[in-house]
Amino acid sequence: MRANGWWRTAAIYQIYIRSFADGDGDGVGDLAGLRARLPYLRDLGVDALWLTPWNVSPMADGGYDVADYRDIDPLFGTLADAEAFVAEAHGYGLRVLVDLVPNHCSDRHPWFREALAAPPGSPARQRFWFRPGRGPGGSLPPNDWRSYFGGPAWTRVADGEWYLHMFAPQQPDLNWEHPEVRAEFEDVLRFWFDRGVDGFRIDVAHGLMKTPGLPDVGASPDPADLPYQDHDDVHEIYRAWRRIADSYADPRVFVGEVWLPTTAQFIRYLRPDELHSAFNFEFLCCAWEPNALRKTIDDTLDTHRLVDAPPTWVLSNHDTIRHVTRYGREDTTFDLGNRRHGSPTDLSLGRHRARAAALLTLALPGGVYVYQGDELGLEEVEDIPLERIQDPTWERSEHTDRGRDGCRVPLPWTSSAAPFGFSPSPASAEPWLPQPASWSALSVAAQEPDPASMLQLYRTALALRRSALVSLPPDLTWLTTDDGVLAFRRGDGFACVLNLSTAPSRLPDHTSVLLASAPVTGGFLPPDACAWLAL
Ligand code: NOJ
Repeated sequence: MRANGWWRTAAIYQIYIRSFADGDGDGVGDLAGLRARLPYLRDLGVDALWLTPWNVSPMADGGYDVADYRDIDPLFGTLADAEAFVAEAHGYGLRVLVDLVPNHCSDRHPWFREALAAPPGSPARQRFWFRPGRGPGGSLPPNDWRSYFGGPAWTRVADGEWYLHMFAPQQPDLNWEHPEVRAEFEDVLRFWFDRGVDGFRIDVAHGLMKTPGLPDVGASPDPADLPYQDHDDVHEIYRAWRRIADSYADPRVFVGEVWLPTTAQFIRYLRPDELHSAFNFEFLCCAWEPNALRKTIDDTLDTHRLVDAPPTWVLSNHDTIRHVTRYGREDTTFDLGNRRHGSPTDLSLGRHRARAAALLTLALPGGVYVYQGDELGLEEVEDIPLERIQDPTWERSEHTDRGRDGCRVPLPWTSSAAPFGFSPSPASAEPWLPQPASWSALSVAAQEPDPASMLQLYRTALALRRSALVSLPPDLTWLTTDDGVLAFRRGDGFACVLNLSTAPSRLPDHTSVLLASAPVTGGFLPPDACAWLAL
């Protein structure tokens, strides 16, 4: 029998807290700003919020370097503010997921400070991956692993040992073979569940366990068989966490950040006693092209069915190039290893396609993620002055990859001048990243009165989705169409049609057009547009 759960069909809005709304005027988003904007999120019509890390952090990687897992960073507020926020969100009918960063902590975490103060071989070092180096005097890293941000994945400390960090040096990897590490995170889960948090997004969920002995990757590694990810023993960690989540009267949920090259590897994280769901990055990376999209949708549905997990649909997040920009490029795919910054893009085409993509994702069965600013049609900001860049990728890549700041620019709320209502007026500081002047026209205030705006498209679609689509069976039937057109039916009364061809396409028989991303004239859907039909 199929399990129920709100998370199977939820529309979840991702809040990159540093850039959502600044309540205290220091140029960085915070809980006060977020709490003041909760009515906006209720009116948008999403079911839940996922907040990127809010814990105490030196912000070497925007909060993904946690120094205290049980408290809130003062930039964002206090523990009391967090508790008030969760209660208020619940009052608005919004569930709350927060980020959990278990693969690594901050180099300022008490455990790591203790490890640095202790000698090689001491118990305090065993919670991390400290190793002697190779080569003369141990001057070379213990193995050939590379950090995801560029450069070696090892840093040497004063006494000559090296420690592993798959991300920045300020993010030492934890040793998940150590029982204290496991016990600590189980306690952290309970700490937040007991404060009403409805679930966690698990950062780098595929990376916690490493192959014993930390073997070299070698010159031409098999991407599906890397010693620092997807080790079989990781699944036992999630089984233990699932038991904790299920022990609550209102069971709590997990969504995994699982970036793996094959769906066979990915889907194992979603077995019924592991994580509830995971982001569909295959869909995010997919080209805006009919065959590729149809194949990705079919693969997603087929694989998730095997483990009775809900598919999810994701267009953008705080690590990727915003899809308005991607969809305006000649090559519309996304590659985490090569963001292709500065590729020529046609933003008006990208925005036109983004409207269609919104309707596609909101019509598909399963859960859907909306990254803050998707609903405003924001583009990637590709001209942030280099001296303002904060993403550690920029330094770690030796200035070859400007990183992810372009999708993290603070939101425009009002249509005046920057900071566009992101900070209160007068503010003591500018937004932590500069906003383009053109975002005046994309602000919430500018879009609210315009029935043709992206914001109103999202509001209408989310409302229709909630009232008419989430109760439909969790599958779809493809309809026969013209070349380059994708159309599917859900239940007997609803169809979604996406025209990816270059010519207008006649809509299939229908009783009414419920919603369309571009005007339907004479029964024809324009290119790069999507329509929802009542049959
Ligand atoms: C994935 C997060 O989404 C990203 O922003 C972060 O830099 C890495 N994990 C490391 O925590």
